[in-house]
Amino acid sequence: MKAKPLLKALVLSGGEGTRMRPLTHTIPKQLIPVANKPTIFYIMEQISSLGIKDVGVVISPRTGELVKKSLGDGGRWHFNITYILQDKPAGLAHAVWVAGDFLGNHPFLMFLGDNLVKPGFEEMLGTFADGRCDAGVLIKPVSEPERFGVAIVDKHFNILRLVEKPRDPASNYALVGVYLFNENIHKAIREITPSARGELEITDAIQRLLETGGNVTARVQEGWWFDTGCKEDLLEANSVLLDERCTRRIEGGVDDKSHVEGRVETGLGSSIYDSVVLGPVVLGEGVTVKNSHIGPYCSIGKNCTLEEVRVENSIILDDSVFGMVYLKESLVGRHCRIKGNSAIEAAVTLNLGDWSEIGPAVVSHRNTGLTKGGQRSGDTPS
Ligand code: G1P
Repeated sequence: MKAKPLLKALVLSGGEGTRMRPLTHTIPKQLIPVANKPTIFYIMEQISSLGIKDVGVVISPRTGELVKKSLGDGGRWHFNITYILQDKPAGLAHAVWVAGDFLGNHPFLMFLGDNLVKPGFEEMLGTFADGRCDAGVLIKPVSEPERFGVAIVDKHFNILRLVEKPRDPASNYALVGVYLFNENIHKAIREITPSARGELEITDAIQRLLETGGNVTARVQEGWWFDTGCKEDLLEANSVLLDERCTRRIEGGVDDKSHVEGRVETGLGSSIYDSVVLGPVVLGEGVTVKNSHIGPYCSIGKNCTLEEVRVENSIILDDSVFGMVYLKESLVGRHCRIKGNSAIEAAVTLNLGDWSEIGPAVVSHRNTGLTKGGQRSGDTPS
């Protein structure tokens, strides 16, 4: 269904991504690609599919310029984007607070920029459209509710209470990072105090709404949901999205000695020589694969070179070079140089930031003052 015209969207893209270091030292976590597309692009597509045009993006001083550069003026989704600077990481409710001028009294859809949510949740807009609700939340049962905001609900899924990251969760329903609010959330935010982690929690603000007689509805998210806060979540999201969306589209070259099986997408200018590629796999433009075995569940960014390697279930960003290595469950940043050793056949799992280098030790005696035999130059052997 199409949203009411006045609905705005607020996308929060200020988080530090500490659990995804080292990659997040140089790339905002919302821009880390899943199936070769930045996480936040999936969110923009979903917002666009709802017919929403006015989108506010909350950014931080440290990563904001990179987010702006990537999303631009939002023209590719036909958005009017307003960037809103959150000067300190003071919580999700604080982000709504600083977006006050942009939001005005409009109802809005709030989306956390690192959440991937299977389409279908949009129906929650319907329950909200009649104007009787102050907030709508999406919940999903999870195995580790203590990592999230938790909703305690009755058997009709009416919300009884909400608690942010409880040590001893009274329910296994987590709050998914998609919310609907009307203007009453602003008053609730002004009435809460910072949590133990020093942040103004949106969960506390919704709880405050409930306590002051607000009407909050919950909808259970049936399909997948990923909070891509750490490498494991990101890899799981990658495999699920590849499974669902990867098609067979070979735009690059494949030689006679190669075997490309299943749903594999290769970009323009990519070349596969003497290799096996087992889908689902996406290779970006300009990727070269030689004497290698790639897949399943690999997303490989633009201009990478892989020679004599095996890669399974991994995300590799642009412009890296790999030789003689067996990678599994790895996340590798841009411009890396990874060279293994033919003597090592076991798989390794890497989690590397941009510009990392791994390779065999080269014997160098520069600057050590030692000669090859271990004596100091100038020593007289006795
Ligand atoms: C935030 C919210 C939490 C919610 C989660 C969803 O957690 O505070 O209530 O369940 O997003 O991704 P954070 O990512 O700040 O730890």
